[in-house]
This record gives sequence, C-alpha cells and structure tokens, in this order.
Amino acid sequence: MDFKKLAENRRSVKYFDKDKDVDLDTIKKIINLATYSPSAFNLQPWNIIAVRTEEAKERLYKLADEQGKILKASTTLIMIGDRTGYEEYNPVWKRVEDKLGTDKKEIILKANRKLYGETEEKQIKFGELNTGLLAMSIMYSASYYGVDSHPVGGIDAKGIKKEFNIEDNKHVVMLICLGHFNEEKEMKPRKHRKKFEDFVEVV
Ligand SMILES: Cc1cc2nc3c(=O)[nH]c(=O)nc-3n(C[C@H](O)[C@H](O)[C@H](O)COP(=O)(O)O)c2cc1C
Repeated sequence: MDFKKLAENRRSVKYFDKDKDVDLDTIKKIINLATYSPSAFNLQPWNIIAVRTEEAKERLYKLADEQGKILKASTTLIMIGDRTGYEEYNPVWKRVEDKLGTDKKEIILKANRKLYGETEEKQIKFGELNTGLLAMSIMYSASYYGVDSHPVGGIDAKGIKKEFNIEDNKHVVMLICLGHFNEEKEMKPRKHRKKFEDFVEVV
C-alpha cells in the first residue's frame, strides 16, 4: 500500500466491532514495524502495555473518561514515555559502548544528559515527543496491516500510572485502541484540515 493511500485512509475509528479480534501476532507485527520510528540519539525511550483482557480493559476504561472504545477495541496500547530514558540503564548505551568504546560513550552520554535531562521540562519533552512519534507510526503501521486505530488522550494519566504499576520516571503519554471498525455504525466524514497556507510560514 502506498503512503498516500495510507495517510488518506487512516481514521480515528470510534466504534470497534467487539467480535473481531486482532491476534497478538498481528499486534507484534504492527509494533515491530513502527519501531523504525525515529528517536533522539536512537534511545527509543518508550514502553507499551498492551491491554487485552476484559478485566484490564475495565480498569483502563474507568480511567479513560469511560470512553466505550476501550471496551470494544481488541487491544488498547498504553503508550509510556520514559522521561529519563537517556540514562545509562537504557540498553542502547551498551551498544554504543561496544561500538565506540567506553570513553566515547561517556562523552555522548553526558551530552545526552545535558540535552534531554537538564530540567524537568526537557525530560517531559524527551519522553512525550519520542513516544508520540512512535504512536503515530503505530497507527500507520496498523493501517498497513489492515487494523483500525483510535488515539486517546482524554485520560487520567496519573491514575493509569498507578493502576498499572508504572515506574516513577515513566509517564503515560496516550492510549491507542486497535481493532476493526464496526460496519453497522456510520463513519463520519473527515473533519476539515488546515492547509499549508493556513499555518506554514516560509522565511
Ligand atoms: C493526542 C490525541 C488525543 C486524542 N484524544 C481523543 C479522545 O480522548 N477521545 C476521542 O474521541 N478522540 C480523541 N482523539 C481523536 C481526534 O479527535 C481525531 O484524531 C481527530 O478528530 C481527527 O480525526 P481523524 O483521526 O479521523 O482524522 C485524539 C487524537 C489525538 C492525536
């Protein structure tokens, strides 16, 4: 499928068919393809919790403004940004060390700490920005595999973090519901999009 078609056809699917599952193997394929997403210094500071059981969906639903799509979608991904993912515990640094040696790794690590970890604002941006890019890649990847998606940001992020035992330095960025559109429902036409002239300044 070419990218133009993919971009034109992707929609936020409000109504999922509860009877149409997306098997775990397909979820894996969707996520693995999306990992070609770029990230700062290739640090990939993200984690995902894939919510698939009825019990876990119910817990998530309560913390996502009771949006029905959480209960109907086959799987909902909790997208987690690691705000300190530039730190040495990230396994990416081991690869850097193996390739460039310890001294070089230390220099680059220090630079990354400064760039992404110097202030809380920088840490938040680091975690959310990189994970947001992965999220978009996942939605396009899902379209590629014939799976519909819906981004969800209307959530109690702190509540979800507590409920799903997410570590302190990691934060819930958003959710992505994955499944198949309920053909009995109507898909509303796409809403207006601002165009180049509306928001691009060429200097
Ligand atoms: C970060 C983000 C958060 C969103 N949160 C919600 C949400 O909580 N509930 C909802 O119904 N739609 C949510 N949406 C979906 C948008 O309303 C939708 O993407 C937009 O209206 C454009 O529609 P389209 O994706 O079908 O083109 C969210 C989208 C994004 C990107």
